Amino acid sequence: MRQEQYRMQKIDKTDSVKAGIDKINFYTPNHYLDLVDLAEARGVDPNKYLIGIGQNRMSVAALDQDVVAMAANAAEPILSDDDRQEIGMLIVATESSIDQSKAAALFVQDLLGLTADLRAIEIKEACYGATAGIQLACDYVRCHPGRKVLVIASDIARYGLDTPGEVTQGAGAVAMLVTRDPGILAIEPESLYASRSTGDFWRPNYSTEAFARGKFSEEVYVGMFSDLWDKARQQGLADPEHLQALLFHIPFSKMGRKGLRTLGNGKISEANYNRLTERFEQSIVYGKEVGNIYTGSIYLALLSLLDNDETLQAGDRIGLFSYGSGSVAELYFGTLQPGYRNRLDAQGHRALLDARERLSIPDYEAMFSAQLVTDGSEQNLERSDSAAGASHYLAGMKKHERRYR
Ligand code: CAA
Repeated sequence: MRQEQYRMQKIDKTDSVKAGIDKINFYTPNHYLDLVDLAEARGVDPNKYLIGIGQNRMSVAALDQDVVAMAANAAEPILSDDDRQEIGMLIVATESSIDQSKAAALFVQDLLGLTADLRAIEIKEACYGATAGIQLACDYVRCHPGRKVLVIASDIARYGLDTPGEVTQGAGAVAMLVTRDPGILAIEPESLYASRSTGDFWRPNYSTEAFARGKFSEEVYVGMFSDLWDKARQQGLADPEHLQALLFHIPFSKMGRKGLRTLGNGKISEANYNRLTERFEQSIVYGKEVGNIYTGSIYLALLSLLDNDETLQAGDRIGLFSYGSGSVAELYFGTLQPGYRNRLDAQGHRALLDARERLSIPDYEAMFSAQLVTDGSEQNLERSDSAAGASHYLAGMKKHERRYR
């Protein structure tokens, strides 16, 4: 009886004000490392990377494509003049922050030519940050009619040369416009979340590379997914029969696969498991090429699914499991909206990936090791990506300040 009441309340709230993702786009830098080349250079069987980790390539960012430039490049193509006027909040989620004080969102606001009439903030909680941003954005648009929120996830995943995490690096940004009556995905207000302090992954302020207890991080990720899934089932929120796809945070595709596999041992029927697995394969197409983009990874999985799957339909319900080390996790749900396919640019996204230039190992190592000056001197940077879709870049440093173009 209580569960029935709960479900009715949920439907009432969902129907009252629809909020969610209206537009979505991504940017990734124009250089990549082939992981077979990396395996050969590190004396590893390539199948460990291709099958064991489940990745093919990773994007590598030059110094001028920092998280601010990538964020602006991801957002620029989806914003109309009306959107620019109506954005009431700009959230940049990142764990590759460029400043301890000023929000990356303020640089992005400037580059995108947004009005001063907005809140500009940066959110950090490892790979969970963008999901906090999306939930905050949905709440905001539900109580601010006529306003929109631009949420951008932007990160450069760095573990260091010749480390176990090296193969799980990457770079990129995903921009999402959150509105009322969204055109792509309406997000349900009810979700399951949990926070638990863990030492699975961290990056001290003085380090440009992250540290991880890799195997432990996998355990925490899988454990938090299982806990939230079981709770969602108890509360009637995750009926597998009516779930057409289940997306995961994808630091590397094997990680999401391990999460999904926890449902394969009789937790859900074989037919439902097979359907979710088929859709999972579509959700990892882009991530396998780009690598880990930390907080944007699950949203790159969403875009990959929507661009590559030809069987989903408006009205289909999908689940999203977001995980951020440290650790915060959330499982939430959304429904695809009529005409959502017309709001995607699958051809443009594929072209962005195909246009990237393959790096040799020495060039990759040189790009990885390059650093911005830290002594206040002047440094001018070459624009590394001359494509029309990469119009924003970091031009250099002067007196400890970043100068963008
Ligand atoms: N052919 C096929 N598979 C092979 C193989 C071969 N020749 N050789 C090895 N493998 C398989 C292994 O069996 C293993 O598979 P399972 O995981 O299914 O057991 C897999 O390849 C990985 O090999 P190892 O067990 O030897 O693992 P590793 O020491 O190389 O480390 C890692 C892997 C822990 C993921 C490491 O890359 C890492 O620390 N990455 C960073 C941390 C991370 O991404 N954690 C994810 C959860 S935390 C998170 O999600 C937040 C975030 O974004 C960071």
